[in-house]
Amino acid sequence: MGKVAIITGAGSGLGQSTALRLAEEGVNISVVDVNEKGGQETVELVKKQGVDAIFIKADVSKQEEVKNYVDKTVEHFGTIDYFFNNAGISGSGKYFLDTSIEEIDKIVGINLMGALYGIHYVADVMVKNGGGSIVNTASSAGVIGQDSVVTYAATKHGIVGITKSMVAEYAKDGLRVNAIAPGPTETPMVKEFYAANPKMKENATSGIPQKRLGTPEEVAELVTFLLTSKAEYINGEVIRIDGGFTNTK
Ligand SMILES: NC(=O)c1ccc[n+]([C@@H]2O[C@H](COP(=O)([O-])OP(=O)(O)OC[C@H]3O[C@@H](n4cnc5c(N)ncnc54)[C@H](O)[C@@H]3O)[C@@H](O)[C@H]2O)c1
Repeated sequence: MGKVAIITGAGSGLGQSTALRLAEEGVNISVVDVNEKGGQETVELVKKQGVDAIFIKADVSKQEEVKNYVDKTVEHFGTIDYFFNNAGISGSGKYFLDTSIEEIDKIVGINLMGALYGIHYVADVMVKNGGGSIVNTASSAGVIGQDSVVTYAATKHGIVGITKSMVAEYAKDGLRVNAIAPGPTETPMVKEFYAANPKMKENATSGIPQKRLGTPEEVAELVTFLLTSKAEYINGEVIRIDGGFTNTK
């Protein structure tokens, strides 16, 4: 039987693209998302590539739902080899003092607490089974400061901290934990964000040395490399995939 991956936020964007790319490598997928329609779509697409896939509905900000997606995956597939800890939201793009406390709580709940809960339950299974590989989704906003994303940046800098510190504790148990820091990538979330903030799209593209946004397929390729044994000696890294964007800051 092939390897087994859990992907959160797999109903759209980077998560869906990565599910399809991993399926090409013969990896079976637990598709986790709060959006049932998108999640089921990913399951169908993945299954067409000849691997097994299940959809598990979960809001990653709720720890009992996170525990459930981990339990259900182990029940169905017997193990977890790879974890793409990816579900996230961007927020409204308002300046911090105009951002409501409710929005701050929501972004932190999904992007940071959701990622922590996920690692807590998944890494427990991996360490007991002798190891595994995790990729966390940070962002350019996790490695530099930017306006309009203060809370989002707090969560993504947090993702970087989790990534580095988990390695200090569990590399000896066979765990690899890396993060990706994508720049603006053309997924539904970004399209929506830029539709509401058109000036930011103009600014973003002009500020990227390669003068274009990234594609979900490019990100999926990187995540697949990091998750699999091809990256066996890469641990605790934060890999930027942003057309040179943060390099020039
Ligand atoms: N697209 C970009 O430009 C970009 C850049 C840097 C980082 N990121 C990060 O990449 C990750 C994926 O974003 P994307 O661009 O693919 O966006 P997307 O909106 O296309 O996909 C995100 C998925 O996460 C799911 N989701 C949202 N809240 C959830 C919750 N509480 N529980 C479970 N699932 C939930 C959504 O339903 C959706 O299917 C996010 O963490 C985002 O912050 C994206």
